[in-house]
Amino acid sequence: MTTTNEIRRKFLDYFGRHDHEIVQSAPLVPRNDPTLLFTNAGMVPFKNVFTGQEHRGYSRAVSSQKCVRAGGKHNDLENVGYTARHHTFFEMLGNFSFGDYFKERAIELAWLLVTQELGLPKEKLIATVYADDEDAYQLWRKIAGLPDDRIIRIGTSDNFWSMGDTGPCGPCSEIFFDHGPDLPGGPPGSPDEDGDRFIEIWNLVFMQYDQPEPGQKVDLPRPSIDTGMGLERIAAVLQGKHDNYDIDLLRCLIENSAELSGVDPDGEFRASHKVIADHLRATTFLMADGVLPSNEGRGYVLRRIMRRAMRHVHKLGVREPMIYKMVPELTQLMGEHFPEIRRAEALVTETLKMEEGRFQETLDRGLRLLEDETAKLGQGGTLPGDVAFKLYDTYGFPLDLTRDILRGEELGLDEQGFEAAMEEQRRKARAAWAGSGEQADEKVWFAIRDHFGATEFLGYDTDAAEGAILTLVKDGRQVDQIAEGQQGFLIVNQTPFYGESGGQVGDTGMVTTEGGARARVTDTQKKVGDLHVHAVEVEHGTLKADEPAHLAIDGARRTRLRAHHSVTHLLHEALRRRLGEHVMQKGSLVAPDRLRFDVSQPKPIQEDDLQAVEAEVNARIRGDTPVETRFMGKDEAMEAGAMALFGEKYGEEVRVISMGGFDEGANKPYSIELCGGTHVARTGEIGFFKILREEGPGAGVRRIEAVAHDAAERFVRAQEQQIKTAASHLRTTPGELTNRIDQLLEERKRLERELAETRKKLATGGSGGPAVETREVGGIKFACQVVADVPPGELKGMADALKKQLGSGVAAVATAYDGKASLVVGVTSDLTGTVSAVDLVRAGSAALGGKGGGGRPDMAQAGGPDPDAGQQAMEAIENVLKETVAA
Ligand code: ALA
Repeated sequence: MTTTNEIRRKFLDYFGRHDHEIVQSAPLVPRNDPTLLFTNAGMVPFKNVFTGQEHRGYSRAVSSQKCVRAGGKHNDLENVGYTARHHTFFEMLGNFSFGDYFKERAIELAWLLVTQELGLPKEKLIATVYADDEDAYQLWRKIAGLPDDRIIRIGTSDNFWSMGDTGPCGPCSEIFFDHGPDLPGGPPGSPDEDGDRFIEIWNLVFMQYDQPEPGQKVDLPRPSIDTGMGLERIAAVLQGKHDNYDIDLLRCLIENSAELSGVDPDGEFRASHKVIADHLRATTFLMADGVLPSNEGRGYVLRRIMRRAMRHVHKLGVREPMIYKMVPELTQLMGEHFPEIRRAEALVTETLKMEEGRFQETLDRGLRLLEDETAKLGQGGTLPGDVAFKLYDTYGFPLDLTRDILRGEELGLDEQGFEAAMEEQRRKARAAWAGSGEQADEKVWFAIRDHFGATEFLGYDTDAAEGAILTLVKDGRQVDQIAEGQQGFLIVNQTPFYGESGGQVGDTGMVTTEGGARARVTDTQKKVGDLHVHAVEVEHGTLKADEPAHLAIDGARRTRLRAHHSVTHLLHEALRRRLGEHVMQKGSLVAPDRLRFDVSQPKPIQEDDLQAVEAEVNARIRGDTPVETRFMGKDEAMEAGAMALFGEKYGEEVRVISMGGFDEGANKPYSIELCGGTHVARTGEIGFFKILREEGPGAGVRRIEAVAHDAAERFVRAQEQQIKTAASHLRTTPGELTNRIDQLLEERKRLERELAETRKKLATGGSGGPAVETREVGGIKFACQVVADVPPGELKGMADALKKQLGSGVAAVATAYDGKASLVVGVTSDLTGTVSAVDLVRAGSAALGGKGGGGRPDMAQAGGPDPDAGQQAMEAIENVLKETVAA
């Protein structure tokens, strides 16, 4: 038997050999089409390549595309379980030509694959063509040699394929497999074509047109090919099964479900096993692509799928969570080709377990209520809308779940009554809000949120996506357009732009429309909880409501934001480990180039603690461990060791981020926190972390400012540059810088000291200063000055200066220097006949304890051992002078 995995491989390899690029399946959430809920055909990711808007490095491609048909226009949810070939999740094998080959080669490649590679007998195959597609008809005859009665012309929409009301389209040709006359059913186009005998296995679409607007057709730049072969269908044909759920892959899941529930896989409850197997696949793949259960949008479709499966588990008589136990089996079966489900295994398992546990409680009670109500109805009766609403509102029963249950009992549902009850609840919510006295300018956001619902955030998984412009706001009012040069706000149904929250600032970037408008997004804010409001400046053209728009965030900026956000988690944990459990986050700012992190901590954080924390964070960064995102109930998160962020409000389910590796000792991840922000995939992406400063913005709170990623690198480089410049200014090398600075400081200290002393000297003895005493001795002017700490060699100059001041007289200057006394006496030349400087200095010297001295009659010098006898020396000189004059 050829397994499903082998068939996929064969298909991809076959077209790979025929020069097709093997393209990995695109995510289930389309990036390129805001109108599509989920990728629902193989060509969806290539939509813009067909129309020529997007170019790729190849013109032929092959893929096995994950598809979900639930909730949107193609909604198979309610049929799953009851038919042989409906799935919410399936894979579509397809080959594509973008203006390369056309009909002939497409038919040739398909025919060879089916008959030779896959070995289907030619006589069991039938082709259909669009009624007036004569080319295709002739090609089937020529290439496949099919007789006329096995080429069927069909004029209905069955053989004209379009993606939706808009987008690429064209006539198509389908290949059918005939299971033989043992099964009921007629050939395609016949009244009983829906039987199991003739099964469509492959659709070849000859893409020729684009529909820019519904009903309008224009030629594509070049005719192209899009084909789609359901992997599960072809596997059923090749494995000789009539029910897709009997193929190897789905059979394994059904047996797993049977084993876990203890209920026969093929008995009365076969439909329930089928539902569980199918919904498990949809759930796992959707979560792996970033969809998490919620009460709106894609998340609600997922929740509906999950709850429908849970109800079937309940039908099997199981009262414990069960589906989550099947995730490992699925990852085992499909994880090789789709590694994303392996990566998401923990997330999916935990989320499913939690959702199952939570719903179990209300499911039981809701089912009892429903039973009581249906007991009141007669055969073929209709359940009142308000009961369906109560089940929805109080017991979490999605409407289709109630419908599914009623269908089994052949009862109807009053859908209008349900809608009316729903509308009444909305009206009450509006009235309550209107009276709550909120700011007037917030009213516009509330009105928009109320009308359009929450914005779906795609930015955990992508930096760019298409969104439909729902409305625009300018000067506080909703408007239809914003023209070039104007500013305003943009609201879309889905966006990759993160709205400021949890400390992380909003994204910036660009919005463009097909109509040629280009607007810069300068900020993104979240309003009324979950409405993403993009502040825009229109640079070109006019933004219009109801247009699709391409939204691209500034990816480089977001990369830096991720790094700064993730590092706050590591910082938080490192601080707690170093300083104690009392450390709790009190607030934060995460910007692309810096972060601020406030914690409860009474005392300043010491330098050695800061260094240890920084080193610890950097070690965790170098560990380069994966950052894991999970989704769990708040209580479970707390049990797992998660820290809730201070002051944040949480719904029942929370997003939990863990990083830094698993701490065996604590039996929890190094860091585990509730957080809605965007994060790196591995800690290594943070690069490098550097604390800049620590301060206390208020009592009991310490604030750390830090940088990471390239901002940390820039910071270190700037520091290095400063050091180099400083070294060069001081004429040394960076390595010698501190020695040089020490030296300079030493020198400076000495100079300061000297300066102070000099000032003192000047204060106590500068020439003309108060320390000079001038008296008259017998008609001769005598100036004397006693100074401290002046080197003896400077005394003569000082005496000369005094002589000049006197004009005529005697000048004496004494000092104590180095523990000894020195003395100089000068006599102006007009008096040298009367008195000799040498005599005078000798008298002074004796007072200083010295012996003699010498010089000339107008200037003589002496010294002595007694530094404190300056004044006595002066007196001695005065006495000698007195005597000399009297004589
Ligand atoms: N796009 C085509 C389909 O989905 C092949 O059937």
